[in-house]
Amino acid sequence: MDAYKILLSEAEMPQEWYNIQPDLPRPLPPYLHPATGEPVGPQDLAPIFPMELIQQEVSQERFIPIPDEVRRIYQLWRPTPLHRARRLEAALKTPARIYYKNEAVSPAGSHKPNTAVAQAYYNKVAGIKRLATETGAGQWGSALALACNFFGLECTVYMVKVSYYQKPYRRSLMHIWGADVYPSPTDRTEAGRKILAQTPDTFGSLGMAISEAVEDAATHADTNYALGSVLNHVMLHQTIVGLETKKQLALAGEKPDVLIGCVGGGSNFAGFCFPFVPDKLKGQDLKIIAVEPTACPTLTKGAYAYDFGDTVGLTPMIMMYTLGHSFVPPGIHAGGLRYHGDAPLLCLLVHEGVIEARAYPQNPVFDAARLFAQTEGIIPAPETAHAVKAAVDEAGRCRETGEAKVIVLNFSGHGHFDLAAYDAYLEKKLEDYELPEELIKKALEDLPQFQKK
Ligand SMILES: Cc1ncc(COP(=O)(O)O)c(C=O)c1O
Repeated sequence: MDAYKILLSEAEMPQEWYNIQPDLPRPLPPYLHPATGEPVGPQDLAPIFPMELIQQEVSQERFIPIPDEVRRIYQLWRPTPLHRARRLEAALKTPARIYYKNEAVSPAGSHKPNTAVAQAYYNKVAGIKRLATETGAGQWGSALALACNFFGLECTVYMVKVSYYQKPYRRSLMHIWGADVYPSPTDRTEAGRKILAQTPDTFGSLGMAISEAVEDAATHADTNYALGSVLNHVMLHQTIVGLETKKQLALAGEKPDVLIGCVGGGSNFAGFCFPFVPDKLKGQDLKIIAVEPTACPTLTKGAYAYDFGDTVGLTPMIMMYTLGHSFVPPGIHAGGLRYHGDAPLLCLLVHEGVIEARAYPQNPVFDAARLFAQTEGIIPAPETAHAVKAAVDEAGRCRETGEAKVIVLNFSGHGHFDLAAYDAYLEKKLEDYELPEELIKKALEDLPQFQKK
């Protein structure tokens, strides 16, 4: 029988995460202290992160064991299925074989719980009582609320204001799992008050919400901060996705030619493709494509430079592709993936040419998502739809050349809480927006000064 799903048993779930750091073509530039400009040490990060995560951030161990407590929670939905998208292939009349790794089956509906559970666990073990975080549309906030709920931690979520009011149902998920949720910027923090004084009508942004959550953690001894993307330890936890995919492709007797993922901060993409990067570095012919929106073109149009992770400049400076930490995405953009920077590990690999990046406007992305929903049944999250679009394009290229390539995409989440964006698309209200060069140039003027000498 021709399989539609390649499944692993719970016993086959990976026991270790894969750390790409020892396999990088060159070492990662260090994080720099926001005040001194010197490389940060573990003690600089200790006020907001537990030591285990700080050690994972700089670890050179290739494999790191997944604690049993974390594995037992992963087992609620992992291993996730790898699907063969046969009906999409047929609709596209392509000789390519398209597979998708389905991270939408987690309780929160995305890949985000893979790191949320790990982070909640290490904080619990370190004696922390509460985690503070930011969230955009609410995917990460709901994942962390879920994880804190499992480990008996309190959870405070600073939710980007525009989403707090426009996307109430993820807020409901967070409430059900016991979190407190505030529309950011708030007047609960210095950072929030400062931003509100300067821009009282702001919609909020991820950078602003990060400033608030970091400050909340830094000013309360029993509270730490949790970040849903960008940092090395987050990429590490997500590698369970790629490690499972590798096993599943081997079971199917397939070798991938093209790997595709969408990029907001880089975590689902990194988790999916990093376990395959050593094969590519050893010479395997493998195309790895990172997909982002033209409204937030970090990898395709940003500068590779040191920048802050947040708006106010409380976080360390990170060497990454960035649109500038003051970047606020246009309100008309419905496709997610709005962060001004990206994971430094991913940025280094893009800079070295190991990974290629491409950007799409939102209407073609939603066209591809609708086709996927109509053929495979599942409605992709708008973020995930970017990866679907690239897979559809790659499969279209195979139709022209006649090549039967194996195309694998990471299906990072479902879109059941994003139906307002689909309505806007169906009502032809979405604009295709390309971030103008002048705005990018202006935003980059705010990059930390020391590198402009
Ligand atoms: C379903 C889904 N995919 C992708 C992303 C982008 O984040 P990242 O690049 O860290 O995977 C998000 C962010 O919230 C998301 O919810």
